[in-house]
Amino acid sequence: EDGGPQPEKHCGHGRGGMGEEVKRKEDQRFITGRGNYVDDIKKPGMLHCEIVRSPHAHARIEDIDKSRALSVDGVVAVLTAEDLLEHDLATMPTLMDDTQDVLVNDKVKFQSQEVAAVIATDRYTAKDGAEKVVVDYDVLDPVIGAENALEDDAPVIRDDIEGKEDNHCLDWETGDEEATAEAFEEADVTVKEDMLYQRLHPAPIETCGAVGDYDPGKDKLTVHMTSQAPHIHRTLFAQVSGIPEHKIRIVSPDVGGGFGNKVPIYPGYVVAAAASYVLEEPVKWVEERSENIQSTGFARDYDMTGELAATEDGEIQAVRTDVLADHGAFNAVAQPSKFPAGFFNIFTGSYDIDTAYGTLTAAYTNTAPGGVAYRCSFRVTEAVYLIERMVKVLADELDMDPAEIRRKNFIQPEQFPYESATGWNYDSGDYEKALDKALEMADYEDYREEQQRRIEEDADKLLGIGVSSFTEVVGAGPGKSCDIAGVEMFDSAEIRVHPTGNATVRVGVQTQGQGHETTFAQIVAEELGMDVDDITVEHGDTDTDPYGLGTYGSRSTPVAGAAAAVASRKVREKAKAIAANELEAAEEDIDWDRESGEFHVAGAPDRSITITEIAAGAYMNHPSSEEPGLEAINYYDPPEMTYPFGSYIVIVEVDRETGEVEFEKFVAVDDCGNRINPMIIEGQIHGGLAQGIGTAMLEHVTFDDNGNVTGGDFMNYLLPTSMEIPEFETGHTVTPSPHHPIGAKGVGESPTVGSPPAIVNAVVDAMSHGGISHVEMPMTPDTVWEKLDEAGLAM
Ligand code: CDP
Repeated sequence: EDGGPQPEKHCGHGRGGMGEEVKRKEDQRFITGRGNYVDDIKKPGMLHCEIVRSPHAHARIEDIDKSRALSVDGVVAVLTAEDLLEHDLATMPTLMDDTQDVLVNDKVKFQSQEVAAVIATDRYTAKDGAEKVVVDYDVLDPVIGAENALEDDAPVIRDDIEGKEDNHCLDWETGDEEATAEAFEEADVTVKEDMLYQRLHPAPIETCGAVGDYDPGKDKLTVHMTSQAPHIHRTLFAQVSGIPEHKIRIVSPDVGGGFGNKVPIYPGYVVAAAASYVLEEPVKWVEERSENIQSTGFARDYDMTGELAATEDGEIQAVRTDVLADHGAFNAVAQPSKFPAGFFNIFTGSYDIDTAYGTLTAAYTNTAPGGVAYRCSFRVTEAVYLIERMVKVLADELDMDPAEIRRKNFIQPEQFPYESATGWNYDSGDYEKALDKALEMADYEDYREEQQRRIEEDADKLLGIGVSSFTEVVGAGPGKSCDIAGVEMFDSAEIRVHPTGNATVRVGVQTQGQGHETTFAQIVAEELGMDVDDITVEHGDTDTDPYGLGTYGSRSTPVAGAAAAVASRKVREKAKAIAANELEAAEEDIDWDRESGEFHVAGAPDRSITITEIAAGAYMNHPSSEEPGLEAINYYDPPEMTYPFGSYIVIVEVDRETGEVEFEKFVAVDDCGNRINPMIIEGQIHGGLAQGIGTAMLEHVTFDDNGNVTGGDFMNYLLPTSMEIPEFETGHTVTPSPHHPIGAKGVGESPTVGSPPAIVNAVVDAMSHGGISHVEMPMTPDTVWEKLDEAGLAM
């Protein structure tokens, strides 16, 4: 009713509301070693589960001999698909309605697939037992790489699907094919580039794990698990097992990073729950690092072709793209079911482009299933990479400055709300403002001069300047268009203000390190005039929290954050009635003052009452017109998604002798609308940029021709360390979302989405005078050196 908080004006009530740099409440327990992760859970009589995995990528199982394993002292049970079949638990649905074996029944489809489970009194005994399970495999030819998979003579991986005679998974298209073709025919200039967004692994510090805990007395199954989406997991568990949903409790305790890796259901979770159900004892399963990399949801693996059509002076008229996607052995991408290519069709980016057309073909291969939203909103990362790379390719073709060509094509502030050529409704943006700020922070012009000087002086180290002006799309729903396994993507918050004036807030999303226990409390503090320290936020327990769709795709702030604000305002409405009663005034004469956080009689600011006094009134002196108590709940279905954006400028030195790339400057200007906690946002940006650097420079899950994972551990799958991470210079602009109750957009994934193209553009920029238009990620020194050599620039 008061229009909500205004940009940058809401800071500083001093109660820890919107815009204040409140220290993270949860860190007290984390930094004192009192976090409670799945592996910290210990139950009386708890058994341990170890999974036997296939060493082959493609093989038929002829026989499994459990006898030697069962003779190991302490081994309680060995489970195979046959045992699970008895309980109708042998298969589980993926989030895209495919069917995946929990334990392999008949045919192995990727290396490290789950073949058997050994349950023992301790983890080491379970491991000893697992080594003694003898599996007889009939090894088949593996199919690695989407292109190979679609060859006519490729062995068929999914012969479990009736009538399936090839490895084709799905086709998808978007946009206007004819109009786009016409635009390309008539354009002054066209450019085309092939680029691979390589297979990545989200790599949370904590691997996946679960403790299944069936209570035969209550006939209730509790599963403590590393889940980014506990409620939807409860629904899926109910559907798979046939156990009624109210007899299942999913608890997601502290989660050590998710990044999309903990959205799918994995066989290990199901095995731990099933084993507990059958054995009537708690069963713990916690995977090792290499199991996490080799068998849980990978990200990306999009082999893309991008094309742009433009006028001679750089006005982009059309964009076209074609993608070959590797989905692994099952279609287990984690995204809303109506979006088989996720949000990839936002590939027109920050630009006002009239026509666009995109196609995608996905294939099954003998690799782990995946395609999870790794710190990204369902393939927006791939889309942003495509358009931001292509704009640089076009700028080079036209010999234009990459900042200038962006400025020329940006959607302008007055065009919002803006509908893109592929049907997205952007809420708000001011792209030029963010770019200008980044250019200024980066001393862009000076570096351009320095770059030229080095070329002229034939210097040993070349300078490259990369720009990325990305737009993100975060905050799925709306429920009508976005669902997970049929459940609409809304979210929720419940507020209970207690008689002594403090509150418990429960949300349907699940933090994995993002700081929700602090920021959700800040939203409620802002909206109710409470102190942030008087509010506790709870999440991750399906028995107590309201139903929500979980945390991924930066949806917590846009959806559950909105629910927290709306629920607070419901409490505020009731608080008015109580204030009127306490102040002996008419309810319509009661005003709420955001600055003081107090309710007062209109025109008489000294006749005021705090939320703490109101809370007491709600329980000890409630007006006869109202129910006692002071609580509210809101299920929020967003009308639209939010579109955060930013401009990143990366300046690199490329060593002509070694191909080594060093960061000279790294500027990130982000806009996530109204900001709840600038310090937490800064942390989110730093972490995401580090992951973007990992993507651009180091990380790749690789396979050999036999389907062996050659990038399946941290010796071979290289994560960036503090040694590879430069100082970041961050800045921000504020363009509120017009439809969000507190004007906020999501931010968690912006840096991972926006930074890889900026980094690649920088490295390409260092060599573009030698005719180089693209360098594939990860840009290891040898990859870069080959490009230097190709351009005649190597020393
Ligand atoms: O869904 P997820 O929590 O991963 O992403 P998010 O909604 O972008 O939020 C990440 C963190 O940044 C949360 O602690 C948010 O409350 C905080 N944030 C903020 O302080 N202000 C914003 N406008 C957006 C997010």
